[in-house]
Amino acid sequence: MNSIPLIDLKKQYESIKDEVDQAIQQVLCGCRFIMGPEVKEFEEAMAKYLDVKYAVGVASGTDALEVGLLSLGIGDGDEVITTPFTFIATTEAIVSTGAKPVFVDIDEKTYCLDCNLIEAKITKQTKAIMPVHLYGHPADMDKITALAEKHNLKVIEDCAQSLGAAFSGKKVGTIGNAGCLSFFPGKNLGCYGDGGMVVTNDEQAAQMARMLRQHGSNKKYYHAVNGFNSRLDTLQAAVLKIKLKYLDKWNDLRRKNAALYADLINKSAKKGSIIPAQVEPSVVHSFNYYTIRLQDRDAAQQRLKAAGIGSMIYYPLCLHQQEVYKDLGYKPGDFPKAEKAQNEVLSLPMFAELSAEQINEVVKVLVQ
Ligand SMILES: Cc1ncc(COP(=O)(O)O)c(C=O)c1O
Repeated sequence: MNSIPLIDLKKQYESIKDEVDQAIQQVLCGCRFIMGPEVKEFEEAMAKYLDVKYAVGVASGTDALEVGLLSLGIGDGDEVITTPFTFIATTEAIVSTGAKPVFVDIDEKTYCLDCNLIEAKITKQTKAIMPVHLYGHPADMDKITALAEKHNLKVIEDCAQSLGAAFSGKKVGTIGNAGCLSFFPGKNLGCYGDGGMVVTNDEQAAQMARMLRQHGSNKKYYHAVNGFNSRLDTLQAAVLKIKLKYLDKWNDLRRKNAALYADLINKSAKKGSIIPAQVEPSVVHSFNYYTIRLQDRDAAQQRLKAAGIGSMIYYPLCLHQQEVYKDLGYKPGDFPKAEKAQNEVLSLPMFAELSAEQINEVVKVLVQ
């Protein structure tokens, strides 16, 4: 059996090569590399896809989070409640605005914020909650929006891993005050470099996001606020506009692959030894990653590696234990469920083009 990568970007490119090559050629011939027409076209297509009023393309998912927070007035001295079990970009963005991340432990089934623990962390400084729909499983947005309403907080959704996922019939990114998307190549909708987007129904926030991404300006050489250079590349927008048409199909295939993984694991692993990815009944999962948990995780990862099968630990060290955040004053043991997850999770190969034969092979090696 050939090796099985964690993700196979080439297979996807080959399936849409003609369309993508043509779109890139069009940008090259048009030479409008910065804020060319494809950016607006893709923003409109994404707004339509998500059924949201405004979509503002930026240079990365990390920038989308920072711009999203700033656009909703989060900044110096504010506290933002989030999860310690995420990629560091979530908290980097919070810190870059001048705000402080305040961590809450996770739910051990969904790996998202445990909403029952949020209220105890709300202080006078708390201005926002930033749920992360980790691996593509939506956080409990009913509970989060109810808490936000009660305490007058903003909700900024980190949808970097969850484009196309839904909670109670609503697409993630459209439930809070703003949603932040990443188009990093390995995401559900990935471009060929970096890219991101802020989506919102809040007109004022959208206007601010547009200014912030373009040096704080909405009229050339007139600057109202201190901004960034964070525009979505025209070339990336052109690629993304093509790919967006296939997103639902690709996500359906990811879900089909996830169902096969779960079925095979349940049938062949010793009872309780491997826990497949869980899906709450109220959600549609986007399966950016297919993440299992198991006690002998490191040995299993070695076995997969020896068989030429890719896997990854998202994430091996919770954010409250990272050196960069030592001044926040957390200690090991503060978030036991997140810390347990960091020792037990393992993400397996997952992409739309993954075959049933490949999934069978992964599970066969896993349960040896
Ligand atoms: C949960 C999460 N948030 C934010 C980001 C940042 O996105 P980007 O890499 O596009 O800056 C990522 C991905 O890398 C992520 O996984």
